[in-house]
Parts: sequence; structure tokens; C-alpha cells
Amino acid sequence: MCVMACVAPVAGSVSVAAAEPVPVYRNAAVPVEERIDDLLSRMTTREKVLQLNQFYIGTNNNVNNIGEVVNGIPAEVGSLIYFDGDPALRNAMQRRAVEESRLGIPILFGYDVIHGFRTVYPTSLAQACSWNPALVSEACAVAAQEARQSGVDWTFSPMIDVARDPRWGRVVEGYGEDPYVNGVFGAASVRGYQGDNIADSLKVAACLKHYVAYGASEAGRDYVYTEVSPQTLWDTYLLPYQMCVEAGAQTLMSSFNDISGTPGTANHYTLTEVLKDMWGHDGFVVSDWDAVKQLVAQGNAADMKEAALHAFNAGVEMDMMSYAYDHHLEELIAEGKVSPQRLDDAVRRVLRIKMRLGLFENPYTPEVPDRFLRPASRVTAGRLAAESMVLLKNDSTATLPLKEVSKIAVIGPLAKSKADMLGSWHCHGNPDDVTTLYEGIMNEYGNGAEVRYALGVDKDGDDTSGIAEAVEAAAWADVVILHLGEDYRWGGENASRSTIALPAIQEKLAEAVAGTGKPVVLVLSNGRPLDLSRLEPHANAILEAWQPGVNGGDAMAGILSGRINPSGKLAITFPYSTGQIPIYYNRRPTARPFDRQGLYQDITSEPLYPFGHGLSYTTFEYGTPKADRIDFVADDTIEITIPVTNTGDLTGDETVLWFINDPYSSITRPVKELKYFEKKHLSPGETAEYTFRIDPMRDLAMVDGTGRRILEPGEYRVLVADKVLTLNYKGEKLSR
Ligand code: BGC
Repeated sequence: MCVMACVAPVAGSVSVAAAEPVPVYRNAAVPVEERIDDLLSRMTTREKVLQLNQFYIGTNNNVNNIGEVVNGIPAEVGSLIYFDGDPALRNAMQRRAVEESRLGIPILFGYDVIHGFRTVYPTSLAQACSWNPALVSEACAVAAQEARQSGVDWTFSPMIDVARDPRWGRVVEGYGEDPYVNGVFGAASVRGYQGDNIADSLKVAACLKHYVAYGASEAGRDYVYTEVSPQTLWDTYLLPYQMCVEAGAQTLMSSFNDISGTPGTANHYTLTEVLKDMWGHDGFVVSDWDAVKQLVAQGNAADMKEAALHAFNAGVEMDMMSYAYDHHLEELIAEGKVSPQRLDDAVRRVLRIKMRLGLFENPYTPEVPDRFLRPASRVTAGRLAAESMVLLKNDSTATLPLKEVSKIAVIGPLAKSKADMLGSWHCHGNPDDVTTLYEGIMNEYGNGAEVRYALGVDKDGDDTSGIAEAVEAAAWADVVILHLGEDYRWGGENASRSTIALPAIQEKLAEAVAGTGKPVVLVLSNGRPLDLSRLEPHANAILEAWQPGVNGGDAMAGILSGRINPSGKLAITFPYSTGQIPIYYNRRPTARPFDRQGLYQDITSEPLYPFGHGLSYTTFEYGTPKADRIDFVADDTIEITIPVTNTGDLTGDETVLWFINDPYSSITRPVKELKYFEKKHLSPGETAEYTFRIDPMRDLAMVDGTGRRILEPGEYRVLVADKVLTLNYKGEKLSR
């Protein structure tokens, strides 16, 4: 990459004035807002506009975003997407900005560090099934360290789009179907990326995306219209954003989708009235890639100039890659359509993040040897992989854990696939770093058992010629470990699918292998919930291993052998069939819950595996929940506890999920809403007390279509496992 050929200072600019004493904006001892006042007073309109643009540098590895070739990157540009994995290119470009531009404003380098930089850990959807936000923070801290030391200051993560349609490829990038779970894991990752101080050389700024309601994409098709009522916007889609803004997320990315007639990127209500005015967010919003320009395709703007006007005045401060701001903002300012106040506010927000990151003081990235794949980082990735995996089925003969097996057949197109274990958006992940299931089994059993491998079939297609060899291996073995699933490219952006069943050829392989009568352990690696209705009968046990990252193979093998007791639970429903979509646990009640009315006439209306489902090798018994009060007032904290005992022979982790239900209210509410969860480690025979401290306004009140929280008098139920406890609010109706 020839940096010098790619960059060009803004026309007419000169290098940083040498004669002047240190200007106020360069003095780190002065409060940030004063430094920005000083800097703004020195900037030309063109320099301000350039701060509001993001281009890229390096070679892109996202096929959806090839973009235009950038021939000349102005040294005054606000931000660059940094595709390179090395600090050198960044430093060369940064030197141009800092040493050769008039004001020396450093560039902010961003990138999609989604589930690891080089040490790739499980996808976000998998992470949510661990119910261990502290571990997710740890993994994100590893990603931040590797990223910052490679020249990235800012990650376009976490994605906290509630997603209830698994046909949508991007379901893999978020934390599942529940708003609260998205909020908790999003906040955990924000804390992991940012720490207490983003000026720390091991931290990066986070970016919440895609603001907002992108997960509601109609029929699971990417980039399309979303139909979202104000009520649903608030009770489902905005909640995780609010939680993550409160956790300190520095930036947000505006979404591609048209929200009921106003695209996310031109939506003054969500971008300004809610985010800035109501929640007081003082960072900035970057558009998604080309999203400003796409306002034209969406019918929101007649041309690029109008697109720039709509997006900028709605509240998008930085234009990612569409050049609409670059080409039109100055003209719009001159015409009085964009106010100088709005311009300064936008630039201030961008500069604020740069100052908080310490870029003015430390613009360059030092070369740190051995920054990737440190042993402790791999351990974190492996732990998260193990905790994310969900044991979906273990039949009555308890196939798992596999003890005393001497002949193991490892079969299937995923068993030796390294790239598929990395999943979509795997940043600078390298397949060579990955342990596959086959390697994991060899490590786990290699000395004590004979292992045979057969591919069987490819992930898709119609070549059945390998099935005979797979059947032969199965017939020889004591047990078959069958690894099926998705190619990593079947998930992520622009990866919608009309069915969530695996291709027929994989089902055919399962049927043939099961025909030998040998016990079959089905291991799945995929980025979305699957329709397993035809596969499930062929498997004695099913482990949902997801796309587990670099240490996935050892985690999978460890669970199969019993070295690791599985503890994951689903953070998203597995439908029985694609036709049931959308199906999610927190739906509103039906008008006819009795006499089996309103159900499908041709198939079950129940999902195959519901939200929260996940088996362990031990057993847990829930005692009776107790509340310290039943009648409460709004300012009370109600403490509810439940004892849980490990009644089996093995140590295990149990996550208790606390739901609430408001049976009658002026705005109808879901049959169940998750409000809290906690995971604990229990030895055999041990009893642990789990506690849910209820803040009535936060946990029991409903939110209306304007964001007000309302607590109405009456009954509230707390649901934990199969137990119900009823609380009573006898006060006045309250709204805040
Ligand atoms: C995606 C974003 C991503 C951006 C930058 C877009 O196409 O929707 O999630 O952060 O590209 O790579």
C-alpha cells in the first residue's frame, strides 16, 4: 500500500503553525470543551466538513462494501475505516494528518471488531447463550487490546438489534430475541471495549448499531423496510440502546432500514429527540456504509444533496463512505439549510471522542510484538466458547458424556472446517489459528480411542458419493459424532435465507448414518437458529456449538467427553419449522388462549427448543421463591430469593432466569418478560441462593409509545422456572 500516493492535504492548507505557542486545543490540562471551543474557532468550514466524513484505507475484506477506490484521502478527514491489521499504515497516514495538515487534528481509525480481532471468540448470538456477561466483557477487552495495538481506535460493535426472524443473516451479530439480553450483553461489551477510560492504550471506543430497529427487517430480508409502531419501538427496539448509552457507549451507527416511513439515517425522532434530547448522549452518530446516499434509493431524498441535508439535520454527524457530506455540506451551509450551530455541534461531538481517546496526545500506535493470540486470550476465547454451547438434546439413554468409547467416527462437512468455526465478520481471524472438532476429538481421545474421519457430503450441493464411506465409518464405530451446519458466509450481512433448515444433502447424510443404528451425537455450527425437525429424530444427542472461534474444537470435545459440563441456554427460540417465524417467547397474549384455538392446523405451534432451553450433565432443583414483601410502593426495592440445589453428581453452572408478567394493564404486555438473570457455579449437593432485587419503576412498569414509564396499581407476577409469585402494587398510577 503506497500511503504517499493515496493521501493529499486539503487544497490551500499549510502545515501546523510553528511560531505559535502551544494552542489551547493542544493543551491536555485544559478541559475538553474549552479545547474544542478553541479548535472550532480556528477551523474553516471545509476543515469542519472534512471532520464529518469517513473514508477507508487498506484492503477491504467485506464483499458487501467494496466501495469506490479512494485516490486521495485528505489529511483533514475525520475518520478512516482501517482494513489493515498493522499499525504501520495507520501511523503513516496519521503522520500526514498530525504533522502536515494545518491544525494537525488526528484521524480516528475505526473497524468492525465484532467477535475478536485476531483471537476470534464465539459470535454474539452464541455469547448470549453463555449468560455470562462478565466473561463477554473479558473477551471484548482482549479484542480491544489487539485492535488498539494494531491501529484501531474505534470498533463498530456491539450490534444490539433485537432479532426475531432467523432468516435474517444478521441475527448472528446480535444477542438474540430479547431486548433485555441485548441490553445486558451490549453493555458488557461496551465495558470490555472501553474500560473506565478510553484514553487507555488498551481500549477502544464502542459503537452501538444499527440504530434502530434494523432487526425488524421484513421477512428477514436485509436492507428493507421495517414496520415498527411507536409502542414496539420503545418496548422492544430502543431498550437495549438506552441501556448501552447508560453504560457509556461513545458512538452509535444509524441503520439502513426505513422505520415505518422514515429511514433510520434520516430519523430526527430517534437520532435527535430520543438519543440526544431525552438520553443526553454527547458522542456522535456515524451513518452505516453508504446509508446517507441510500436515502435516495429509499425514496426519502431526491438526490445526494437532499440526502446529506436530511441525514445531517436528523442527527447523523459522520457520513460513512457515501461522500454526500463531502460533496454537499458546504453548499447546504452557504444556502442556510444547515445552520452553523448544527455544524459546530456535530464537529464538537467528533472532536470530543478524539480527545477522550487521547488521540491529540498519542496519535500513533506503537509496534507491540506478540500482541495477538496470547495464551490468556486463547483461554478466554475457549471458556466463552464452552459456556456458549447449548446441549439441546440428550436422550433417555444419556448418550453424553461419551465415556468408555474406543471407536469414534467423526463425520460431516464441518468437522475439519477451520474457516466456518470463525463465523461471519471474523475481522483479522485466521483459519490457521483454529482448532476444529476433529482436532479437539484427537486431543481429547487420541490416546485412548481410535478415531476415523469421513466427510460424507459437502455443506450444500447434490454429490452423495461420500455417503457410503461415512456409513462404513459409522458401522465400524461405537459412536458417531456428526458435525453439520452452515458455511460461515450463510450468516452476516446480505445473507438472508428463505428457509432455516440445513440443505437436504446434510439431512440425507444424517439419515444414512443413523440408519446404522449406532448412537449419533449431532454437533451443530451455524449462525442462526435452525429448523431441526427432520434432523432431530436421527440424533441421540444434539450440541449447538455455534461458530465458536479459535478454541472451539477443544470446547466441543470437552463437552462431549464430560470434561466440561455444558451450561449454555438458548437466547433465541429454535422454531419447529420456518413457517412458524416469527416465533419468540415474549409475545403478547392471544385473544383465544383456550380450546387450542388459533394454532396451526398442520404442525405444532410450539417451537422445537424454546428460549432458555439448555441441558446439563447434572440436575438442579428449584425451591420455593420468597419475597421480603408482597405489597409494595413505587420506591421500594423488593427482594426475591430462590434456593437452587445441584442434585446430581457433577459440578455444574445454573443460570436462573427471572421473568415478570403484568396480567392486566392499559397497554397489553407480553406473557413473560425477562428482567434479570444470574449464573452460579454449584458443586454436587450444594444449594445456592439466587436473588432478584426488583426496582418497580425499572422492572415492573411498562413503557409507552413515547418512552414514559408507567406503573399501574394491581397485580404483578414474578416467574422463575415453573414457580409464580404474585406481588401487589396498591399505590396510585405513576408515570415518569
Ligand atoms: C454494515 C455495518 C458495518 C459497516 C462498516 C456495513 O455494511 O452494515 O455493520 O459496521 O458496513 O464495515
